[in-house]
Amino acid sequence: MPTVIVGITGGSGVIISKKIVDLLLENGISVAMICSNAAKQVWMQEMKEPISESINEWNQNPNFTQYAVNQIGAPIASGTHNVKGMIIAPCSMSTAAAISQGLSDNLIRRAADVTIKEGRPLTIMARETPLSTIHLRNLKDLSELGVTVQVPAPAFYLDPKSIDDITDYLARKAITAFVPQENVLSEEFEYTQGTDEQ
Ligand SMILES: Cc1cc2nc3c(=O)[nH]c(=O)nc-3n(C[C@H](O)[C@H](O)[C@H](O)COP(=O)(O)O)c2cc1C
Repeated sequence: MPTVIVGITGGSGVIISKKIVDLLLENGISVAMICSNAAKQVWMQEMKEPISESINEWNQNPNFTQYAVNQIGAPIASGTHNVKGMIIAPCSMSTAAAISQGLSDNLIRRAADVTIKEGRPLTIMARETPLSTIHLRNLKDLSELGVTVQVPAPAFYLDPKSIDDITDYLARKAITAFVPQENVLSEEFEYTQGTDEQ
């Protein structure tokens, strides 16, 4: 069973990470989830409930594992542990800066460092606006290392009707490196891809 590491950091838009974990599990991918302390705060503020509510749900699935952000000795901190790759969503500018500099001072950052050194796919959903030159430099460095840098930009050409539509699209884009395209893209998205409306 392939495993994807999902790191959730303290950027706005944690609802996207919830959808990403749901979609990976639905598609038969094992999830190793790590949530930063700041992400727990943002989760409470944006989701109006603690992340433990979602963790309790995910724990019903045998393919879900959670690690504490300070659990630096966890198996996923080592390159010999077999994982397909990693998604960090949302990715705060603090975490983006740390990863770009090779700072492995928590399990999310260490797992990202390992993912890069092992040549595995790493997708980050970088969340900040506006982006300063510092942020852009760090994101450029990550991009040059082969990291896929996504931003939570809605696909307005798909005519989203709700936050759920927007979240669904962004989460599906984030998992494209790990789940076959035909499982990821909705019929509506496939249809719009084939038109001149983009
Ligand atoms: C409600 C809330 C929203 C935040 N949104 C962002 C954001 O969108 N982008 C960002 O870079 N930092 C944001 N921050 C600040 C980060 O959470 C903070 O820099 C934190 O130290 C990041 O730590 P982490 O990367 O370990 O999660 C937010 C903080 C709070 C409380």
